[in-house]
Amino acid sequence: MKNLLVTGGCGFIGTNFIRHLLHASDFSGRIVNADSLTYAGNPENLVDIETRFPGRYVYQKVDICDLPALRDLFHNFQIDAVCHFAAESHVDRSIVTPDAFIQTNIVGTFNLLELARTGANDLKLFHHVSTDEVFGSLGAQGFFTETSPHRPNSPYAASKAASDHLVRAYHKTYGLPVTISNCSNNYGPYQFPEKLIPLMILNALEGTPLPVYGDGKQVRDWLHVEDHCKAVWEVMTRGERGETYNIGGRNEMENIRVVALLCDILDEIGKAADGRSRRELITYVKDRPGHDRRYAIDCTKITQELGWVPEKTFESGIRETIDWYLKNTGWIERVKSGAYRSWVREHYGDGGAAAAE
Ligand code: NAD
Ligand code: DAU
Repeated sequence: MKNLLVTGGCGFIGTNFIRHLLHASDFSGRIVNADSLTYAGNPENLVDIETRFPGRYVYQKVDICDLPALRDLFHNFQIDAVCHFAAESHVDRSIVTPDAFIQTNIVGTFNLLELARTGANDLKLFHHVSTDEVFGSLGAQGFFTETSPHRPNSPYAASKAASDHLVRAYHKTYGLPVTISNCSNNYGPYQFPEKLIPLMILNALEGTPLPVYGDGKQVRDWLHVEDHCKAVWEVMTRGERGETYNIGGRNEMENIRVVALLCDILDEIGKAADGRSRRELITYVKDRPGHDRRYAIDCTKITQELGWVPEKTFESGIRETIDWYLKNTGWIERVKSGAYRSWVREHYGDGGAAAAE
């Protein structure tokens, strides 16, 4: 892999992946980051990378739905491998405005596959980054494995499931060298504050309500983003072509437990201005429509075949993450004053339950 195209590199996981590859992996080629900079993309995340690795990192403002622009990019940079992160990623948004999810997650992925098939120089790999949400919802028992059926419940999950199927089909039909990973919920630095963990940290620091959907007993399997990035690179370098790998944290937690823990750690670091426990900010709000009850990943395959296991515990990872948000107040202010606030106002109104305000 000499010229690796990373799509969506200015988003949460893409940023961490590029940082991991250049700082801490055996990757020796060049990264071309194609990102159209939606509300979730922030080029500021990689400014230091641009300076530190001038010949090995290039940013291109390209929309993966723009086929001619993508074609030029494949040609100009002699792309020979792809790691595809770019997506509309937020379930709540997909419920209100599904259109962009269909375009980016399905049509965008299709465009990339077509160019990988016809326009790349001796393509070595197309890696598709996907989610456990494609499998739907679990009851109290059991785990998602690589053979679990796709049963997506939200427009986001359905669009990701469609893209998984396209990637698989391009391997079966055209012999494209692909790998797919389906990962559980990530947390860590650079996550956009619409997602549960950064939203709760920032609201708790501001002393504003912490909106917990429904009864708060939905279960997610949390994984630190650095562990996810390491897993993706293992799959890309050592995974079998045509195969899918599940990635998870072996760390199931009810949402309400996550929120309470965040409150307790923040209280321990420094009392709120009014001296009250931050748990008092917890507010139960209307549930998300079609809300999946429980996700849990069986990651036996990636552990047995590639030797990957999550390294960070949730207890240490979450403290590091809180510390990152406490230290990066400038980043937070710039992100929060951007398009997100106006989008939330437009779709939810000022008092909207999901508003990260
Ligand atoms: P994110 O929303 O933080 O970032 C998405 C990035 O893609 C942004 O930089 C955005 O500008 C870019 N983008 C969106 N549409 C684009 C387009 N049409 N053309 C070019 N760039 C575009 O998302 P994330 O949380 O970093 O997720 C990255 C990938 O990982 C997604 O495919 C998501 O489905 C998957 N995933 C996420 C999680 C999670 O917990 N966040 C877990 C499993 C899988
Ligand atoms: O499982 C992987 C998926 O994790 C990824 O594919 C998605 O891109 C990513 O957004 C994430 O999806 P979730 O919907 O699980 O993440 P979110 O942070 O939005 O919500 C986590 C849980 O917390 C979920 O059960 C909904 C709940 N929640 C969320 C928000 C934003 C609340 O209770 N209150 C909130 O304000």
